[in-house]
Amino acid sequence: MTMLPMTSPPSTPLHRRDIDFNMGAPIPAHWLAGHCHLTRFYDAMSIMFPEGERAFIETVRHYRDRIGSDADLAHAVKEFIAQEALHSREHVRYNRRMQEQGAPVERLERIVASQQAFARRYLPPVARLAITVCLEHFTAMFADQILRDPRCLEGAHPAMADIWHWHALEETEHKAVAFDVFTAAIRAPLRRYVLRCVTMPFVSIIFSTLLWRFTCHLVRHDGRGTDVRGWLHLLRVQFMRPGPLMRMLPYWLAWFRPCFHPWQHDNHGVMERFRQRFDRESSGGG
Ligand SMILES: [Fe+2]
Ligand SMILES: [Fe+2]
Repeated sequence: MTMLPMTSPPSTPLHRRDIDFNMGAPIPAHWLAGHCHLTRFYDAMSIMFPEGERAFIETVRHYRDRIGSDADLAHAVKEFIAQEALHSREHVRYNRRMQEQGAPVERLERIVASQQAFARRYLPPVARLAITVCLEHFTAMFADQILRDPRCLEGAHPAMADIWHWHALEETEHKAVAFDVFTAAIRAPLRRYVLRCVTMPFVSIIFSTLLWRFTCHLVRHDGRGTDVRGWLHLLRVQFMRPGPLMRMLPYWLAWFRPCFHPWQHDNHGVMERFRQRFDRESSGGG
């Protein structure tokens, strides 16, 4: 892990890639190697994205005026909002396809929406910003695993591998934007540190619980809730080999360092292959 000062390296250009992943095409319900449990783990995440990303956009937009004269950060915020809006659009299409194939998507989306409504109603903007920053760290950690290890999406339908790689690429590109807004908006370092450290455990528990609850619900709806071998395979893949959830642990712990910044984990290298490819596709090649 390379130590860098508390700013994003200048070589992190953000750029939106407006790609239609053709979620209306025939795609098998269990698109990840034909495996119900593995597929539903990703599908559960997808159900959380549209509402979640709308909330990220709202929160960051709320603080846009407080970032002062930093033109680079202002540009990054603009691209962050554009990228998240496109992710939201594509995951809405992804989720509609799932629903048309019979998955109980609307019911789970309502749970996410009610959590967001609760946060909007009862939490102050600063708490919502802290939650956004924590969730962006979560998505960046998982995105890094997806880009780094081809085994995570081995056997996936090509359109589904594409949408996950595209999303993971852009989550990595903009992984520091909400954090930099948080730093600019809350001037007192101690307040910032305490706020993000207190928020992270809550966010981790709530997010992980919801993810596994949705996965269980989708698998049960497929009639595979008692398929022990299927569950063991999912747990083995996520925690052992390739084990993305286990490999995320050092990066999760790094969050609690007082001088933490997302780009201290410099993973530009894992983005390059996907960047070239999706840049080509968004400029008319695909
Ligand atoms: Fe996103
Ligand atoms: Fe994001």
